[in-house]
Amino acid sequence: MGNREHAFRVRDILKEHHRWFGESLPLIASENITSLLVREVCASDFSHRYAEGEAGKRFYQGCKYIDEVEFLAIELAQKLFEAPYVNVQPTSGTVANLACFFALANAGDTMIALQVPHGGHISHAELSAAGVRGLKVKSFPFDEQEMNIDVDKAAKKIREVEPKLVLFGASIFLFPHPVRELSYVAKEVGATVMYDGAHVLGLIAGKQFQQPLKEGADVISASRHKTFPGPQGGVILAKEEYGKKLTRAVFPGLVSNHHLHHMAGFAVALAEMLEFGEAYAKQVVRNAKALAQALSEEGFDVLCEHKGFTESHQVLVDVAKQGGGTRVAEDLEKANIILNKNLLPWDDINKSANPSGIRIGTQEVTRLGMKENEMRTIAELIARVAIKGESTEKVKKDVAELRREFNQVQYSFDGMRSAYEYIEFF
Ligand SMILES: Cc1ncc(COP(=O)(O)O)c(C=O)c1O
Repeated sequence: MGNREHAFRVRDILKEHHRWFGESLPLIASENITSLLVREVCASDFSHRYAEGEAGKRFYQGCKYIDEVEFLAIELAQKLFEAPYVNVQPTSGTVANLACFFALANAGDTMIALQVPHGGHISHAELSAAGVRGLKVKSFPFDEQEMNIDVDKAAKKIREVEPKLVLFGASIFLFPHPVRELSYVAKEVGATVMYDGAHVLGLIAGKQFQQPLKEGADVISASRHKTFPGPQGGVILAKEEYGKKLTRAVFPGLVSNHHLHHMAGFAVALAEMLEFGEAYAKQVVRNAKALAQALSEEGFDVLCEHKGFTESHQVLVDVAKQGGGTRVAEDLEKANIILNKNLLPWDDINKSANPSGIRIGTQEVTRLGMKENEMRTIAELIARVAIKGESTEKVKKDVAELRREFNQVQYSFDGMRSAYEYIEFF
């Protein structure tokens, strides 16, 4: 194959990918689908440009429209999140975390955060971003029954360890964290309170999850593309007094040119969430509860039945009886049901190749317009593969049939356009 063929082959692969996802059930809890307006903005000339420095104070010429969009993004985010300080320049959630670690702590300082099997993100660990900053990480005591931080033990530990940073937030995130209860203790020992809202940013925006800045957090770091339906990237929201240090940690600290096309796409998504965020987030949580209930009725071990399963977009299922997370996730993929295997709190971290769980997120199918009825159908489809052992080819046809009616991005200004019209575009 020559270079020309390779170049066009990439385009053809994307076309196949779009077609595949258009016939599939996207249930990965860390993903979402952006509106066509966001996608158009992301395909703009902004993707070719540089705009180092703060909006209005750039080191490059040619930035007048970029500045206008960035000021608008900041203004919309301040309004949506009721946050005095906003930085839209981190290029990912991990970069946002790292910038916060640099701004809020020094090398050698201690941070308390959740361990990975308890839901902490890898960037909270010493082997990743926290370690890059030279932080010593101690773990929050965790209650596996409640799937949450153990408040009494955590309070004791914060007083003992006297960390510089207390980090809430996680990648497994079924219930709000005890920010209110533990921020008081953190303040007692002089710690800064940080909240990684990567997973739940859209639910925070829609006021359907805890409001960390009101509960005592000083800084929120987040991705923009999980429950928040923006293009990939990161964001930092904070109380005003942390602004100067955070700004410096992002630029010139960790980002030279932020990804301007995605910044512009984020501005569009912020406007969409100001308009539709509450209705969207409400339906995401309703769908997660309905899916969890239906999976439980199908015979799955869904975590936290005693607490109503979940208060977020996530559903966590112990599939050890069905052969483990790897087998179940791979079999489901053959039926075009796309989700991921996940460690459960009692799994050894060395078991990550075959953990006991699967994690399911309802944020993307909700954005495609699905409601409680469809959640019951999805639970049946999952059970047909993972419990009844039906042919994945047969289930795949029913998945495609279900998707046929749900191919427009709702909670957006797209109108009746198909989310997959880019298949024709290519
Ligand atoms: C809690 C949490 N923080 C940070 C991140 C990292 O985000 P990104 O992939 O945007 O770097 C993730 C990603 O899944 C996450 O779950």
